[in-house]
Amino acid sequence: MPFTAEDCERARRDFPALGRIVEGQALAFLDGPAGTQVPEGVIEAVSGYYRTSNANTHGEFPTSRESDRLLQETRETVAAFLGAPSWRQVSFGQNMTTLNYALSHALVKTMAPGDEIVVTQLDHEANRGPWLALQERGIVVREVALRPDGTLDPGDFARQVTARTRLVAVVMASNALGTVTDLAPARRLARQAGAWLLLDAVHYAAHLPLDVQELDADFLLCSAYKFYGPHVGILYTRPGLLEQLPTERLRTQEEQAPWRFEMGTLNHAALAGVKAALDYLSSWGEGETPRQRIVSAMNGIAAYEHGVGAYYYDEVRRIPGVTVWGPDFSGPRAPTVSITIDGVHPNEAARRLGEKGIQVWDGDFYALRPVEALGLAERGGLIRTGIVMYNTRQEVDRLLEAIAGIAG
Ligand SMILES: Cc1ncc(COP(=O)(O)O)c(C=O)c1O
Repeated sequence: MPFTAEDCERARRDFPALGRIVEGQALAFLDGPAGTQVPEGVIEAVSGYYRTSNANTHGEFPTSRESDRLLQETRETVAAFLGAPSWRQVSFGQNMTTLNYALSHALVKTMAPGDEIVVTQLDHEANRGPWLALQERGIVVREVALRPDGTLDPGDFARQVTARTRLVAVVMASNALGTVTDLAPARRLARQAGAWLLLDAVHYAAHLPLDVQELDADFLLCSAYKFYGPHVGILYTRPGLLEQLPTERLRTQEEQAPWRFEMGTLNHAALAGVKAALDYLSSWGEGETPRQRIVSAMNGIAAYEHGVGAYYYDEVRRIPGVTVWGPDFSGPRAPTVSITIDGVHPNEAARRLGEKGIQVWDGDFYALRPVEALGLAERGGLIRTGIVMYNTRQEVDRLLEAIAGIAG
């Protein structure tokens, strides 16, 4: 369903934080890739849980039963969001990084020294560090090169995947450059090698609809605080796969998926917020099933964000002294645009924008490897603008004017 500029104005009223005025200036929240603001429904769901149902699971009393039901409903809602065949494929944790480390601890137990893992130069450290750490256990980690245009080199992909590859770990959309990865080579090569395919969907999930079955992923990770929810990490695992993995767990813990991967008590209130965030997103879509509604909403919002992102991309590169990094908007792309300004350190630029109430991030955003590969690490990295469903062209115009002032 289309999501228009008027819809954006309506949506903005649902996010209390967007109304903040600091030192007489409205804040422009262009920092979404590091975590979005949350709508009222999420705030109500979190506080409502504490007000009414706060309890541990599996008790023989009302609040515990309500908590069981909430977790179940949240899993079902997330399964619809991911296109997963069932809620059994959805495990929760603290955040993506923690889940990925736990996964690496389980997967390494199935590997032998000399086995190989393929990572990429486009990835956030959260999808590199857990795998690079396995080098201490004799695992060989190989890295796919990034090209200067911000896309992965398909030829190098083919060189890095070998008969010994056990896992291909790749990002779906870059939180630094906005690149949407062409997954066809990764999938084909992983299948040929009999390797698992792990997708980091943290940035992608905030902007574009997911379909884990079509993606043919073995593992997919995302994080609800990037799509208008609280800080909760989400792991999808292919049906039947989690049961085969030697996950770390207490003997009191359920052996079946999805619980097999979850350690200790989850953050129930935050999970109430995750469900509310997805319900909120779905309310902008149409269709009969939850899946249809969320996909319809995501498609409309994606088109809107793409339009605003493309506008910023086209205008900012006209400003003398500005260089835009990452692919253009002619193909699939996340609406996250990073620039550098000649002679101005990114941190200085972000500070000056912050003084005007314009909130953008500078540096590497933990996507250190792409920033290094582009030769920008010593220069302070990038200045990143993220467009999400509540950002307007007017905010972008305000940003453009401020950048012109800094560059000029
Ligand atoms: C692409 C990408 N992957 C992974 C992460 C790490 O996610 P989390 O903060 O949930 O550990 C981030 C966070 O910024 C990200 O943008």
